[in-house]
Amino acid sequence: MHGCIDNIMEEHMKKVITYGTYDLFHEGHYKLLQRAKALGDYLIVGVTTEHFDEARGKVNVVDSLLERVENVRKTGFADEIIVEDHEGQKIEDIQKYGVDIFTVGSDWEGHFDYLKAYCEVVYLERTKNVSSTMIRKEKFPIVRMGIVGTGRIAPRFMSESKYVSGIEVECAYNPEMVSAIQFENEENIPVYTEKYADFLQHVDAVYIASPNETHYQYAREALVNGKHVLSEKPLAFTYDETFELYELASAQNVVLMEGIKTAYCPGFQELMNVAKSGKIGKVMDVEACFTRIANPESRERTDAKYGGAFLEFAGYTLLPIIKLLGIEYQDAQIDSIYDENGVDIYTKIQLRYPNGMATAKMGVAVKSEGNLVIAGTEGYILAPSPWWLTHKFDIRYEDPNVIEHFEPNFQGDGLRYEISEFVGKINGTGRRDYKLTKEESIAMSRIVEKFMKNRQSI
Ligand code: CTP
Repeated sequence: MHGCIDNIMEEHMKKVITYGTYDLFHEGHYKLLQRAKALGDYLIVGVTTEHFDEARGKVNVVDSLLERVENVRKTGFADEIIVEDHEGQKIEDIQKYGVDIFTVGSDWEGHFDYLKAYCEVVYLERTKNVSSTMIRKEKFPIVRMGIVGTGRIAPRFMSESKYVSGIEVECAYNPEMVSAIQFENEENIPVYTEKYADFLQHVDAVYIASPNETHYQYAREALVNGKHVLSEKPLAFTYDETFELYELASAQNVVLMEGIKTAYCPGFQELMNVAKSGKIGKVMDVEACFTRIANPESRERTDAKYGGAFLEFAGYTLLPIIKLLGIEYQDAQIDSIYDENGVDIYTKIQLRYPNGMATAKMGVAVKSEGNLVIAGTEGYILAPSPWWLTHKFDIRYEDPNVIEHFEPNFQGDGLRYEISEFVGKINGTGRRDYKLTKEESIAMSRIVEKFMKNRQSI
């Protein structure tokens, strides 16, 4: 009987719904929620998940979901708090909760008119001069970034960094005048060509995208000068040098990150987590392949000392292996097919673990299927090319009729996640190193060292 009265009361109640990230909770949020509540009798607040924000291109949210929910709860205006985690959810919620009014701030004017088919839509005047973005900027000074090397990756860094708040690319460095001038004209930032030390004075952090053989020296000098370093893979060619760089970074209290962008992609993390969750049983074998027929004139195809398939792709192909089977492999076999000019055009690495094995295959002048296959005792995960920019993967089992399909979110070319992680680490916003640990990076350097020694002896 009581329930029946409740239902009748609920039917007469005017329900309002609003959504937001509510990061670094501020006055604008408070006032919005206050006015949203005043529009009706019952207020539902949808708070976005990290993944949903990432998918919308908001990659620098500081507070965790629980903190953001807690801040909304503390206002006392919300009668119910829900979590928003996917596109299209608003329509679903409005129908599910029997909502009468949807409301958001006037910065979204017009954007949600499509919801008028389901309920009333009200845009509330936005509070002036306050936003999470502004607070993030005040709280964390902008990281002044310098790019070392102005080749192919540098312009990608420029465009992807625009999606990450809290970072500004100030200048670049390249001792090669022609490339420097071209980059300066195209990107409209000063490029230093002479002393590296002069360039370092203008920045807080560097992104090293220069030729492979220069990473270590540039990284080292930057760290010695107290600059944060994000370096393209490999950080160095030897275990000792890699270890030294990490030691130096911790002594200097700065961030050092190896730029294997796959490690920072949300889809790849999801894939790793699913693989570790026991869904496919115990992981026994990892096979990762990445090949690209590179331009015959390119550095990868012509530089016998520092080009080739291994240095180009081993960072990607070793990553899922090391992450899933660990850093303690028993044996590593590396085999290459060399071009006449001495470049490894195709390289295969076989790793043996006490209870598992793995194969990494990579090519710059050989094409193969770019799959990642993770075999377990109860099933396997298949991530098709480009698995290194993880957009989708399947879990498959003995029964071919059972397939679980995953399509994680992925934006841009993936670099923005790496940049966001780097800025987050510099700002110390509580992110730990789990996406690519120092130990994992150092373990990979042992394989790099082995390959470089093999190559020298040929
Ligand atoms: N809002 C508001 N006045 C402000 C800032 C936000 O009324 N000064 C409203 C937004 O319009 C939205 C809700 O608060 O309805 C949650 O917004 P959210 O995107 O979480 O906050 P912002 O401060 O706009 O965040 P960001 O700067 O990260 O975009």
